[in-house]
Amino acid sequence: MRLILLGPPGAGKGTQAARICQEYKIPHISTGDIFRRHIKEGTELGIKAQEYMNKGELVPDNLVLEIAEARLIEEDCKNGFLLDGFPRTVNQAEQLDKFLDERNLSIDKVLDIDIDKEVLMMRLIGRRVCRNCGASYHVINMPPEKEGICDVCGGALYQRSDDTAATVENRIEVYTALTEPLVAYYETLGNIAYVDGSKGLDEVFDGIVSAIGDQK
Ligand code: AP5
Ligand code: ZN
Repeated sequence: MRLILLGPPGAGKGTQAARICQEYKIPHISTGDIFRRHIKEGTELGIKAQEYMNKGELVPDNLVLEIAEARLIEEDCKNGFLLDGFPRTVNQAEQLDKFLDERNLSIDKVLDIDIDKEVLMMRLIGRRVCRNCGASYHVINMPPEKEGICDVCGGALYQRSDDTAATVENRIEVYTALTEPLVAYYETLGNIAYVDGSKGLDEVFDGIVSAIGDQK
């Protein structure tokens, strides 16, 4: 199963991706997570990416495509994958299609998580992430059992540096200008499904499972 998760920052892509990947036994590929790993390790790529991410701008396509394609040729992607946060521009989508075409592969379903933009700010400002395993929480909607501590691994929770009000605002603007056009792109290809992301975690997940099920 080859899936793409689309949706604005804070729509719940990372949260749902963890569940989808467990259910369908496919690897979760988040370009944002890959860049954050590079930043943590202080690599040259991380230093370049951080400049854009801290402002809420997109990392240039050539850098994104390089890391995405390198990840997609790894062994564990042979039987499928879930892409989260990639593609994010029409150019990235075209390059991904070219990469898959060359290998006689295609995307089974694009899942677009729909949500009102007003909700996103509240979700992102309240998000806390585990420094160790990447699990995502929310101070109100999804608090950990012990404040500041990850339920999964006991790691410390932190606030992402791009989850500040000004950066979130810019991320939403960038999404509207550069990523939202992908909806029309995938509509033309006929493999997109819409999921209501404003519901609770379980309901959103049920919506995703039924959207995937429809297509099989
Ligand atoms: P990336 O890491 O991809 O971030 P994003 O797309 O901005 O998405 P988020 O991770 O912020 O949100 P999410 O939808 O995963 O929400 P979550 O599940 O955590 O990208 C970061 C940056 O990297 C970009 O700005 C860019 O610079 C760069 N980048 C990455 N990929 C790139 C690419 N392809 N091209 C160029 N640049 C790229 O949920 C949010 C919060 O809400 C959490 O606290 C969660 O607990 C809560 N929540 C989730 N679901 C629900 C629910 N149903 N009800 C209530 N609360 C909920
Ligand atoms: Zn953890």
